[in-house]
Amino acid sequence: MSSFLIAPSILSADFARLGEDVDNVLAAGADVIHFDVMDNHYVPNLTFGPMVCKSLRDYGITAPIDVHLMIKPVDTLIPAFAEAGADIITFHPEASEHVDRSIQLIKDSGCKAGLVLNPATPLSVLDFVMDKVDVILLMSVNPGFGGQSFIPGTIDKIKLVKQRIVESGRDIRLEVDGGVKADNIAEIAKAGADMFVAGSAIFSKPDYKVAIDEMRQALAS
Ligand code: DX5
Ligand code: ZN
Repeated sequence: MSSFLIAPSILSADFARLGEDVDNVLAAGADVIHFDVMDNHYVPNLTFGPMVCKSLRDYGITAPIDVHLMIKPVDTLIPAFAEAGADIITFHPEASEHVDRSIQLIKDSGCKAGLVLNPATPLSVLDFVMDKVDVILLMSVNPGFGGQSFIPGTIDKIKLVKQRIVESGRDIRLEVDGGVKADNIAEIAKAGADMFVAGSAIFSKPDYKVAIDEMRQALAS
């Protein structure tokens, strides 16, 4: 099994000094930068687009960038994010008219591709894409805002998706996003997740290293 990846969500970072904040969270031990793109259409909030991703690359950020698209339509911005330096691009199947085409477009753009399942999205959306996706992202809150509480029913859903990944025989990352903290990350990992998005649990702390170390200790327990 692949190692655990901690992916701080910059939704909770200080946008006025984003490059510095991202540098600091990477120096504190983050593996991946989670980049939440919201359009005030698919979700009721508005964040940033490919230009901000490119700015982080130009600033010197070399860590993998995991772009979580909460936008509708999906396809128009995929090439722009790939050019801006994204490594992984995930999207919500409800937001795409042609899910297979969107996955293919991400892969043709040179990025790893993933589907994001909202808390109420059934697993059947995975039925005909398990041979194509590199990542499955399970939302453990409803998308749109940081700082919400983890929805407990997600644990059973993680177990079911993990089973499907094992059955597929493929190396697919199982990412969980929303309400992840040091006190629930071990249970989330035990259920089968191997990539953990955390926004408020890291950026609201005065010392990012302490916050990430607490998560790693919980994962090692
Ligand atoms: C919510 C976003 C999350 C969010 C997580 O729509 O996809 O990535 O920033 O924030 P926390 O960790 O604070 O729940
Ligand atoms: Zn996210």
